Amino acid sequence: MTWTMNNTMNSEFESVWEGYSQRTEKALQSRLISPLNRHAKASARLHQAMEYMCLGGGKRLRAMLVYACGEVAGADLEQLDTPACAVEMVHAYSLVHDDLPVMDDDDLRRGRASCHIAFDEATAVLVGDALQSRAFEILASGQDNDEQDNDIPPIQRLRMVQELALAIGSLGMAGGQALDMEATGKAIEYQELVQIHRLKTGALIKAAAIMGGLTSRRIDQVLLEKLAQYASAIGLAFQTADDILDHTADSETLGKSSNADRRMNKATYISLLGVDAARAQANKISAQAIESIQGLGDNGRFLEQLAQFVVTRNH
Ligand code: IPE
Ligand code: IPE
Ligand code: MG
Ligand code: MG
Ligand code: MG
Repeated sequence: MTWTMNNTMNSEFESVWEGYSQRTEKALQSRLISPLNRHAKASARLHQAMEYMCLGGGKRLRAMLVYACGEVAGADLEQLDTPACAVEMVHAYSLVHDDLPVMDDDDLRRGRASCHIAFDEATAVLVGDALQSRAFEILASGQDNDEQDNDIPPIQRLRMVQELALAIGSLGMAGGQALDMEATGKAIEYQELVQIHRLKTGALIKAAAIMGGLTSRRIDQVLLEKLAQYASAIGLAFQTADDILDHTADSETLGKSSNADRRMNKATYISLLGVDAARAQANKISAQAIESIQGLGDNGRFLEQLAQFVVTRNH
């Protein structure tokens, strides 16, 4: 499936997007397949399933945040490849587990069969485990296979590992997914929903931006704080838009089943607020994201446009 911008996006944004997107695909290919295929004893099926989930699909929003925030902080693109891949591997793992019958029970992902349908449930569980592990491996080793990109000082690399681990554990993404499951079929308060969205989706998105910022040679705490605030807002806006799209878009456009939330009786922005109020809320949060990165000049333009894309997207 090819993702296209909607017509409110301009060509400058599209070309930066396309550049980051192609770069992510190439970087993932070299970090995912070739090194693993050198191991004769490995499970070809597991690696095939890892490739199936990581390559050739997805908007690459989290990788884009690593690249864009990293560039704003003055890092080279080569240094950003590894953290960009790590966040996309973690994201792919989260989707594989999210689609399992014991969670959202979704058969369609990125326009094709979900991992547990294309392979089997045991393989899907293991794909998640292995992708998470591989993400930390590449982040810690700092090797980009044949090329060296280990000029990121080890202390900054360690902070990235910490940042990612915290963002996806029981106080982050996994915790948010647990709360999402617990809230299913229940009437919850708006603030509880905000907390679920911030954890299950927002935490990784925020970590992606911070990891980009941490790649810079001299860490600028003021900039890191701006990036964290920005990404915190777009993470929430992104999941709000996801809830809206689940309700308003069709499966073909989404590349995943629509109306899945209602089918599963999920607590969402739609079930709590309805479409119009959810849209208004998403736009408000996107505006807050833009507000928090004022003063970044030309560097911040892509981030501003990304904040708009997050709430105007159609997929
Ligand atoms: C889907 O994320 C899961 C959520 C956190 C809402 P994306 O919409 O970024 O999925 P891909 O990577 O583009 O497929
Ligand atoms: C998924 O949220 C969040 C994570 C995968 C961590 P959803 O369950 O709403 O995502 P989709 O709609 O299946 O992509
Ligand atoms: Mg879910
Ligand atoms: Mg889901
Ligand atoms: Mg959803």
